[in-house]
Amino acid sequence: MPDAPDKTPTRIAGMFDRIAPRYDLLNAVLSLGLDRRWRNRAVNELALAPGARVVDLCTGTADLAMATVGGVAGATVLGVDFSSAMLRIGLQKVKAAGRQSVIRLVRGDATRLPVETASCDAATIAFGIRNVAEPEKALEEVARVLRPRGRLAILEFGQPSIPGIRTLYLWYFRYLLPAVGRVVSRHNSAYSYLPASVQAFPPPPEFMKIIESRGFSHVRAVPLTFGIVYLYIAEKI
Ligand SMILES: C[S@@+](CC[C@H](N)C(=O)[O-])C[C@H]1O[C@@H](n2cnc3c(N)ncnc32)[C@H](O)[C@@H]1O
Repeated sequence: MPDAPDKTPTRIAGMFDRIAPRYDLLNAVLSLGLDRRWRNRAVNELALAPGARVVDLCTGTADLAMATVGGVAGATVLGVDFSSAMLRIGLQKVKAAGRQSVIRLVRGDATRLPVETASCDAATIAFGIRNVAEPEKALEEVARVLRPRGRLAILEFGQPSIPGIRTLYLWYFRYLLPAVGRVVSRHNSAYSYLPASVQAFPPPPEFMKIIESRGFSHVRAVPLTFGIVYLYIAEKI
């Protein structure tokens, strides 16, 4: 596996603070609108009961939190992120959608959640775990805050394995995406960090083992859109 990029929390938070104003636009453009579908799929796959209490780690601009309350009747979400600029935009969206009573956003670290033990029915993380310097510690925190049999959904980028699609995608991901990202976000390295961090992330079979080793069972990895993204589902033991 290639060397992992620098994931010092202050560096990562600073990077997201700087790209926050263009983050949603770039997500939609660079994923051709698929990001919304991936988040909705994660919510559906969790199959949560009405009124579920959910914690969304690395919540960013709160898109997954919004998809959760939109997809599960009476659900409440606590979104946690250490980038205040991302949270600010998330809060504007939550208010504009009139969802303040069901989504709360707080500044915090995924490895030290401001949440009571065994108090959540589910935890979600979309495109965040790859950025966490100590992902195992974040998974341990998730296991701590979930009730027994609570559910976990993680969305993370993968790499397609179908030969032609793989070549095309890797070209797009390594060259076109960083170039478009650099121009639109006006940040020199954030969108080069993206492919580098995806390449350094453990492949699905390995990541499933890591999830399992932190107190989860029934771990599944579902490839979405040819494996560009993987949806990991697990249950707390
Ligand atoms: C790629 S964004 C994903 C945002 C959102 N979940 C989404 O689906 O669009 C990653 C987010 O993870 C946050 N993040 C990374 N490491 C974190 C950590 N250790 N604790 C809290 N937030 C973290 C960043 O600040 C950023 O907002």
